Amino acid sequence: MRSSWYKSLPLVLGPRPRISWLLLVVIGVVALVTILGTSSSSSYDSATSKRLPNFHRNYRRIKEQAAVDYLDLRSLSFGASRLKEFPLCGKEKENYVPCYNVSANMLAGLKDGEEFDRHCELAREEERCVVRPPKDYKIPLRWPLGRDIIWSGNVKITKDQFLSSGTMTKRLMLLEENQIAFHSEDGLIFDGVKDYARQVAEMIGLGSDTEFLEAGVRTVLDIGCGFGSFGAHLVSLKLMPICIAEYEATGSQVQLALERGLPAMIGNFISKQLPYPDLSFDMVHCAQCGIIWDIKDAMLLLEVDRLLKPGGYFVLTSLTSQSQGNLPSTKKPSISTRVEEFSKNICWSLTAQQDETFLWQKTADSNCYSSRSPASIPLCKDEDHASYYRPLVSCISGATSNRWIPIQNRSASSGTSSAELEVHGIKPEEFYEDMQVWRLALKNYWSLLTPLIFSDHPKRPGDEDPLPPFNMVRNVMDMNARYGNLNSALVEEGKSAWVMNVIPVNARNTLPIIIDRGFAGVLHDWCEPFPTYPRTYDMLHANELLTHLSSERCSMMDLFLEMDRILRPEGWVVMSDKVGVIEMGRELATRVRWEARVIDLQGGNDQRLLVCQKPFLKK
Ligand SMILES: *[C@@H]1O[C@H](CO)[C@@H](O)[C@H](O)[C@H]1NC(C)=O
Ligand SMILES: *[C@@H]1O[C@H](CO)[C@@H](O)[C@H](O)[C@H]1NC(C)=O
Repeated sequence: MRSSWYKSLPLVLGPRPRISWLLLVVIGVVALVTILGTSSSSSYDSATSKRLPNFHRNYRRIKEQAAVDYLDLRSLSFGASRLKEFPLCGKEKENYVPCYNVSANMLAGLKDGEEFDRHCELAREEERCVVRPPKDYKIPLRWPLGRDIIWSGNVKITKDQFLSSGTMTKRLMLLEENQIAFHSEDGLIFDGVKDYARQVAEMIGLGSDTEFLEAGVRTVLDIGCGFGSFGAHLVSLKLMPICIAEYEATGSQVQLALERGLPAMIGNFISKQLPYPDLSFDMVHCAQCGIIWDIKDAMLLLEVDRLLKPGGYFVLTSLTSQSQGNLPSTKKPSISTRVEEFSKNICWSLTAQQDETFLWQKTADSNCYSSRSPASIPLCKDEDHASYYRPLVSCISGATSNRWIPIQNRSASSGTSSAELEVHGIKPEEFYEDMQVWRLALKNYWSLLTPLIFSDHPKRPGDEDPLPPFNMVRNVMDMNARYGNLNSALVEEGKSAWVMNVIPVNARNTLPIIIDRGFAGVLHDWCEPFPTYPRTYDMLHANELLTHLSSERCSMMDLFLEMDRILRPEGWVVMSDKVGVIEMGRELATRVRWEARVIDLQGGNDQRLLVCQKPFLKK
């Protein structure tokens, strides 16, 4: 059921006599009306009193514009269509991630680790339902406090997992009542991550980890990120770390990282390529990430090589030699030794080794491949296609790409040059115009992210932002990101948000430019669920996604249910599209119980904005 304060009252009151129950309800109503009335009106007044005349005019304009809309909405939420709301899922689906049902995969005969892989094709026809938050779910704290303290009721983690957490990136947590605290940068207890980052920097030949950016290291694929502390440190150095880890039913590294506001998604090194283009990352990092790199003819290492940009680094920290010390009879060479043997074959060089940390560098010179012996791993023939969970390959990818630019040669300026755009076949005018559009659009969007948008005194785009905590947005997903210009607008505005830039599989593949700008990005088929845990994004943005998908085979209803699954309670959805699909979107939004409002920003054309907020459903 929809969250209603009065529904929870009888539970609170328990077995008291009926008279006082009623009395309390009445008092409760009066109190609530008073509280809500004063708080909402006072916060609104304080935000707008200086421009009151202006506001009245704008209010009338919006009210006229949206009159029809509004009546519609009312009738939708109170009338017949209420019946069409999807039912709520049971408790067992609180942390539901579709496509990762290991027992179903095993039943289907998958083995050798593939049962842990993503298999959307095996998903059963299930009852459509709205995933509910756990009983003690609380809205996450704001960034950056939320990076260091999370609500333990929000993530699925067992006490044993705390106690058994022993590895370097995992031992950094404390439990305080209903909170989990991670050691902050200047925490009292020494946490090791800073030292580790400094060690890696020194191995690259830098004086300190603050020099990563100057050395061309901007994006880091962090495989198996523990509780995300290394990533949190990299974020503080203005790097873009992306955590990937396999699906875990409890104690998920991906769920924890996202809960802390750090970029992450579920991704496996098993049998398929990750949904990123060739030459994507400046560094791939594995600290005891549990992957056995030399199986499958080292195809896993070839996947790392595919993902690495020229001159990029692979950092491997393992304790394998220690654990093998317990078994003196089997004197196998350590994994790092075997990786080292293989690395020469693919033009990597072991740059440094300290303790248990090894650092290889991928060649910056593509001529290196032709100078190897003829028996070496061959270069791939079919170059540069969108990689969407393709099977792993046993050849070297990206070597002949026109995106072969060593990370050390990257220009220091943060902007995107025309020359760079040319490499991607993008017209500069088109790109810079798009950029301008999103600069303006962001100002409007951001100012709309307030519950006031649904009130009788709706907020006008461009009005000053209301006081916090209304626009609490850290994890943003741009579901149809094109060039990533919403992301760059957020960066320019100094918003403390990061963006998962998604390129739909059948759209023009502009993911490489997004990646080359140093942003997080991924290819995704929106007819399938996104590889993340429920409630992991604060805001979903979709420009022209509905129009794009209306020609595809998949159900919009399932798309909205999936959006609802990955959006946290009280999170926001902003869709811009043509009026027809927006109308349909509004109907679907109501069915997943979102507050929804259609806004005509420009007037005179058929573009509309659909602004929605997901309610906080409580049992
Ligand atoms: C996983 O698959 C098994 C076997 O098909 C099924 O019984 C179970 O309900 C599925 N679990 C979920 C969460 O869908
Ligand atoms: C990278 O920079 C070096 C040194 O400035 C230069 O010799 C090399 O040609 C550059 N490589 C590319 C691919 O631009």
